[in-house]
Amino acid sequence: MNRLVVTGAAGFIGSNFVRRALAEEPGWHMVALDALTYAGNLENLAGLEESGRFEFVRGDICDEDAVSTVLDEPVWAVVNFAAETHVDRSIHGGAEFVRTNVLGTQVLLEQSRQHGVERYLQVSTDEVYGSLGPAGKFTEESPLVPNSPYSASKAAADLLVRAYHVTYGLPALVTRCSNNYGPYQFPEKVIPLFITNLLEDRPVPLYGDGLNVRDWIHVWDHCDALRLVLKSGQPGAVYNIGGNNELTNLELTRCILHELDKDDSFIRPVRDRPAHDRRYAVDFSKLRSELGWSPRISFAAGLRATVRWYIENESWWRAIKSGEYRRYYERQYGLV
Ligand code: NAD
Ligand code: TYD
Repeated sequence: MNRLVVTGAAGFIGSNFVRRALAEEPGWHMVALDALTYAGNLENLAGLEESGRFEFVRGDICDEDAVSTVLDEPVWAVVNFAAETHVDRSIHGGAEFVRTNVLGTQVLLEQSRQHGVERYLQVSTDEVYGSLGPAGKFTEESPLVPNSPYSASKAAADLLVRAYHVTYGLPALVTRCSNNYGPYQFPEKVIPLFITNLLEDRPVPLYGDGLNVRDWIHVWDHCDALRLVLKSGQPGAVYNIGGNNELTNLELTRCILHELDKDDSFIRPVRDRPAHDRRYAVDFSKLRSELGWSPRISFAAGLRATVRWYIENESWWRAIKSGEYRRYYERQYGLV
């Protein structure tokens, strides 16, 4: 039985990863380590302990003792999803991003080294590469030129992972994925924010001219790629993961409006995000040629299933959209 520590497992991608891995990897026993910040939600993991191959531990990745304790029993792999993840929040204040994303990663790397972990996987983002013009795609050789406090902290973490591999021989890998969507995504990110606003008959705040481009991938495709890289990737390597699915935010918004039978009158243009990256697009030919991975879920089918999930799980997002979330929303969008 392979024992894995999965940090940030109570968030969006981590919880999807654990759920899919329990179904697809009968030889894995996973220990979740999550601080349960505003973005962490135990409901995302409901029922999984019944499998007998999953346990949850509340703890902060910056806390050396907490990390050391979960690594005391022999661990095959550490998969690090834990992070502060929202660009707009990082613009309001970057300190927590540096603490968790940089310091937390260093603590995990150091403890993984000391405990002789066999694989360390850092779940990173294409945003570390900065912004593209109208042509070309990010490759693993593209320079790291992050533009937001969020992406700068993720880039710093990626460089620490590289340094731990080069300096100490830690068998560490980095993946850099494009924008994810799917079930359990916190409704501050654009797709669940727009779906849930429309379900409440409220407008959707579109930044700037709406022509910024993102390369959307369904979270299950991302999670499948992560399992493959974990099992078969080259230690020390970086792998890009992408959806091959570029859309402007305006095109994306119209797809969501269409799914919910709404028209353009629900679009509310709002002030642009500072330093808003214009275009992301990911070249994942390395992952395709080395490990045979390609995304499988079409955007049309994935978006339809995601909209259905938010319709069927109204109590999940309504609980989130009260309390702290309201204060964030008012600060970010005013009275939109
Ligand atoms: P999320 O915000 O939904 O979840 C983050 C999780 O980390 C939460 O459960 C939170 O409680 C936990 N966490 C935060 N700080 C912690 C700390 N100090 N100690 C322990 N746990 C802590 O994030 P997500 O969208 O699921 O992203 C997961 C990872 O994937 C992140 O590293 C992110 O940078 C990366 N990523 C995300 C995307 C995307 O589109 N969402 C794309 C590429 C990469
Ligand atoms: P987001 O989901 O925050 O992901 P990221 O910034 O990590 O790419 O945003 C995706 C795109 O949607 C991005 O170009 C910003 C835009 N956006 C809006 O137009 N309005 C919004 O309210 C939000 C949250 C994002």
